[in-house]
Formats: sequence, structure tokens, C-alpha cells
Amino acid sequence: MHFDDDVAYFATCAKGLESVLAAELSAPRIGAKDVRAGASGVYFAGTRATGYLANLWLRTGIRVLAEHGRAVVDGPDDLYDWACSLPWTKLMRLEQTFSVEARVRDSAITHSKYAAMRIKDALCDTFRDATGARPNVNVEAADLPLFLYVYRDEAILYRDLSGVTLHKRGYRDAMHKSSLNECVAASLVLLSKWDGSKPFCDPMCGSGTIALEAAMIGLNRAPGLLRKRFPFEGWPDFDRAAWKDCKSRAHGEARFDLAAPVCVNDHHAGALALAKKDAEAAGLTGFLRFDQKDIADYVPPEKPAVVCVNPPWGERLKDPELDATWRKLGTFLRERCAGAEAFVFTGNADVPRHLELKAAQRRPVKYGKMDCLALRYAVPEAGA
Ligand SMILES: C[S@@+](CC[C@H](N)C(=O)[O-])C[C@H]1O[C@@H](n2cnc3c(N)ncnc32)[C@H](O)[C@@H]1O
Repeated sequence: MHFDDDVAYFATCAKGLESVLAAELSAPRIGAKDVRAGASGVYFAGTRATGYLANLWLRTGIRVLAEHGRAVVDGPDDLYDWACSLPWTKLMRLEQTFSVEARVRDSAITHSKYAAMRIKDALCDTFRDATGARPNVNVEAADLPLFLYVYRDEAILYRDLSGVTLHKRGYRDAMHKSSLNECVAASLVLLSKWDGSKPFCDPMCGSGTIALEAAMIGLNRAPGLLRKRFPFEGWPDFDRAAWKDCKSRAHGEARFDLAAPVCVNDHHAGALALAKKDAEAAGLTGFLRFDQKDIADYVPPEKPAVVCVNPPWGERLKDPELDATWRKLGTFLRERCAGAEAFVFTGNADVPRHLELKAAQRRPVKYGKMDCLALRYAVPEAGA
């Protein structure tokens, strides 16, 4: 158990965004040590406060895991025996709840659910031997969410500091079906290095995720401050003073003004209504300039220096306008955003050619089960 100040962490993210997450962790506000990109996540080390800061500040991270133990195991029974040796009664109280999620790869332990069950059995049996009773499982909101990762014969057990995944910032009660995941939306803005000093634009904003993340980045607002509670706040080794200090510094570092506007547009009234509702919930309404126009007619109130956009990427059969929409976006970028940097996120590798712009960078990103691309364009200056 880590009551010391040298915790080994792993923060998870969408595959392809590891370098963005690593940059967030290395930045002084989190100040993680030994930052090393892995697959779909980043290893790092630090104090308990480093883990708290990661939960408070990470925008691309999905969850922050703290290593609790690791062992070589040759099967489910061995996993159970090892798990029984862990000091469970020091990690939680009987009346608290727990959950176990597991992922197994290339291992003699072939079923994730079975591996999770063996950990659950070990935890409950340890409690029963010590106290005569077993704690309860709570899958939705456990006091102690556990995550087991087994690769070949190595098992690593983590305590999950985040519980509810970090993309659920707290400004949105339900995700709209075409809303971009907040972590991916934020990664586009972080890739653009936008800092609030120049006009920003999402001309096809949908429910506004990219624009809301941009406004929070420009205002230096820690996304975790919107959360009511993290599981680690109920753990026996919770450092209340350190957490209070992390939060009060984050409050102090927030800015109250953006030097340049965040311009958002969509032709769909329903999408804009969602964007406005979420902006209100996030306390960001005053920083966004909304328009409802077809992109062919949209002229942002200030010429954008950075454009981040997630255009429709459905299939042509379902959306006969798809190619034309991308052509209109290309015209918008070339004619109204000359000299800007544009970041375009898509799950359809076939449509970006309609922009008639050459991508300066193509970053593959796994989005759920979809192979997507984050494309960067340096839009030529007018007349270039
Ligand atoms: C994939 S969704 C964007 C989702 C958004 N990133 C979010 O997080 O909610 C694409 C958006 O483009 C908008 N759109 C499609 N064609 C458009 C056009 N011609 N002009 C303006 N907006 C358009 C759609 O209404 C839709 O909201």
C-alpha cells in the first residue's frame, strides 16, 4: 500500500493521443516524473498530490490509476492466492463498496470477467476472515474502484482514482449521439496550442464540445473542479490537506477573461440549443459567440487563427450531401480562415480530399472501435 510519496501511476487515453497526454502530465501544473507513453495511456510517477493534480487538470486522460501491486501469476488460482495476500482491510472499510474491472491480454487467464471475479473473491474472503462479513460491490459508484491488467503472466492491480471516467466533466447531463468525446475534443485544441489570445472557431460545432473545451483551456480552468467528488477522497490514505491545496491553487490559476472570442456555428437549431445549454451549465456562455448559418454563408465575427472542427463523417449513402459539405468546409477554410491552423477530426478517411487542402500532419486516433484521423492543415495565406 502506498502511504509513501512515490506512487507508480498509469493514465489511460484514446490510442493515438498518448503524446498529448504525456505533455499534459509533464507540464509544471501536474509535474509528473518518469513520464513514459505506453499503449492507450501514459506511465508516470509522483506523490499522492500528483495523482490528485492529474485528476484535476487532465483533459485528454480518461482515468488515472495508481499501482497497488504486481505479481507473476500462472493462472486464475494463482491470481486469487496473490490477491489474498494484499492488505484489503487497510484499503477500505467494511461498509464501503468496491468494484473490479479487468483486462487480460495474451495470458493463461483468458477471461477478463473471471479474472475480475477472482480478485473480488479474494477481497471478500479476506474481509470475511478478518471481520466475519463481506463488503458490497457497487459497479456505478464504488468507494474503491479497482482495475486489474494482466499481460501474459504479469498481473498489475490498480486503484482507480477517477471512478467515473474523466471525460464526464460535469457540464453535460446526457451525451448527444453525435457529440465528440470531451477528451478527444480537448486533444484537438491542445494540439493546436491555442491559448486564448487569438480568435478560435468551430464552424460545425454540434453540441459545442470542442468550443467548450477550448474556452476552458483558454481560461485555464481545471476540468476536475466541475466534479463533485472523486473516489480517492474516501480512501484511508487520502491526504485532505494536499487535495485542498491542489483545488485552491487551481481556483487561483483560472482566468476570467479571454483576449479573443471562441466563435461557434452550426446550421442545426437543435444542436445549437444543446451547445448553449451545456455552455450555461459550464459557466461559459459569455465566452462563446454563436451563429446559426450554413457553413457556405458563415462569416465568423473575427477572422479565426485556429479552427478545430469535427465535420459530419457518415456514409455517402446515408448522407448524399457529405462530399458537398466537405467542399463547403474547404471553401470556408481557404476563403475565410486564410493563414489559420485547422485541426479536423474524422472517422472517414475518404472525405478530407474534398477540402482541397494538403494535410501537414495525419494522426491516427482510435475512437471507440473506430479508426479515426486528427488532421492538421496550415491554411495558406490569401493569394499564396
Ligand atoms: C459530427 S457533428 C459535430 C459534433 C460536435 N463536435 C459535438 O461535439 O457535438 C457535425 C455537425 O455539423 C453540422 N453541419 C453539417 N452540415 C453543415 C453545414 N452545411 N453548415 C453548418 N453546419 C453543418 C451538423 O449539424 C452537426 O452538428
